[in-house]
Amino acid sequence: MSRISDISLAPSGLDKIRWVESYMPVLSSIKRAFEAEKPLKGAVICTSVHLEAKTACLVLTLAAGGAEVYATGCNPLSTQDDIAAALCSLGFEINAVRRATPKEYTSDLSNTLSHMPHLILDDGGDFTELLHGECSSFAKRLIGGTEETTTGVNRLRARHASGLLRFPMVLVNDAMCKHLFDNRYGTGQSTLNAIMQLTNLTIASRTVVVAGYGWCGRGVSMRARGMGARVIITEIDPVKAIEAVMDGFEVMTMDEAAGIGDIFITVTGCKDVITSRHMEKMRDGVLLANSGHFDVEISKPDLEALSSEVFYRKPSITGYRMKDGRVLNLLAEGRLVNLAGGNGHPAEIMDMSFALQAHALKYLWQHGGDLPAGLYPVPDETDRFVAMLKLDSSGIRIDSLTPEQHDYYYSHM
Ligand code: NAI
Repeated sequence: MSRISDISLAPSGLDKIRWVESYMPVLSSIKRAFEAEKPLKGAVICTSVHLEAKTACLVLTLAAGGAEVYATGCNPLSTQDDIAAALCSLGFEINAVRRATPKEYTSDLSNTLSHMPHLILDDGGDFTELLHGECSSFAKRLIGGTEETTTGVNRLRARHASGLLRFPMVLVNDAMCKHLFDNRYGTGQSTLNAIMQLTNLTIASRTVVVAGYGWCGRGVSMRARGMGARVIITEIDPVKAIEAVMDGFEVMTMDEAAGIGDIFITVTGCKDVITSRHMEKMRDGVLLANSGHFDVEISKPDLEALSSEVFYRKPSITGYRMKDGRVLNLLAEGRLVNLAGGNGHPAEIMDMSFALQAHALKYLWQHGGDLPAGLYPVPDETDRFVAMLKLDSSGIRIDSLTPEQHDYYYSHM
């Protein structure tokens, strides 16, 4: 039985799904092929991904392929209740409610897993952790799964390195057609978009401090600069720091940046990136936003400990009044601002990420039984296939090698 917020929200969710679907040509073409071939017939698939419109298109694609799909979210604040209702109205069992408590969130995940999946689609690693712990009895017929994001991949690498991973996982995040576009351009656009929507303030003229110059950080910095901001990068990796310098950004420590920035955006996948010693230096009215997977990058306990008052400012903005009167504004409770405070990545971006997911799940259903526990890349040919479909759908053609060029290029010693 589903646990959603309100089924009467379904019409709004269906409108959103139809809108994004019309801008997801690659996933739509896979859906048509799945409808004809039913490559997932017999598979029970459980998904734990931010439950918003593009994810609904993926759920519909997997179902078109013959799978029985059960969906939940992967963050207590990113579920869109109208999308959950829409999927429910289409006959899916959904366990996901926006603003779930930590207990409700875990129970939604475990209720979803209780359908004993053959395959899981994970985003951030919570499904995987449960299947190795309190939900291990639901893993009896599990063949394997896929992981959507960097934090989930990092958790999988740690688990695998300790010899504790019990099933094969395909690292969709690491595919080129995923992180090059989703993490960079998707997070770049949607993070800035959410901050602007929530605050109704300018980016131009402001000093934006971006913590982390990985795939997401590059995208966020690029978009912030494009909108006229002065952009400062903080990093822990000297190579990434030099890259940021060469890309024309200022690089300094968070201790140095804390007193200069107007808008702080964390995208590291690490914890305690902004803590009390930084908050003590910040100017009145700064905005604090996180786009990393977990709400641990900006220390909420530190914000609370330093505050004389915590107060509601407007939807998704909490004011923290420091004892000296300064107010620091936390967006979306420190959860990934683009999903908890916005609509997530653009449809055209998720078109590629979810095309990879659909293919990886099909591959696992057809071959996963032969794979030992471990971490698997998305095959290069799948990346190229998705990229070609994307180019085709955009009417863009590219050159191909002549046989002579092929020999020269690949055999030249
Ligand atoms: P990445 O590994 O490419 O980049 C992370 C960067 O942060 C690295 O360059 C690392 O050196 C740096 N870093 C780590 N700790 C730091 C610290 N304490 N201070 C400054 N820099 C630090 O990872 P990617 O793909 O950019 O992902 C970052 C986070 O964003 C992850 O949690 C990922 O799951 C999440 N993500 C969020 C999305 C969204 O929609 N909001 C989309 C995709 C990923």
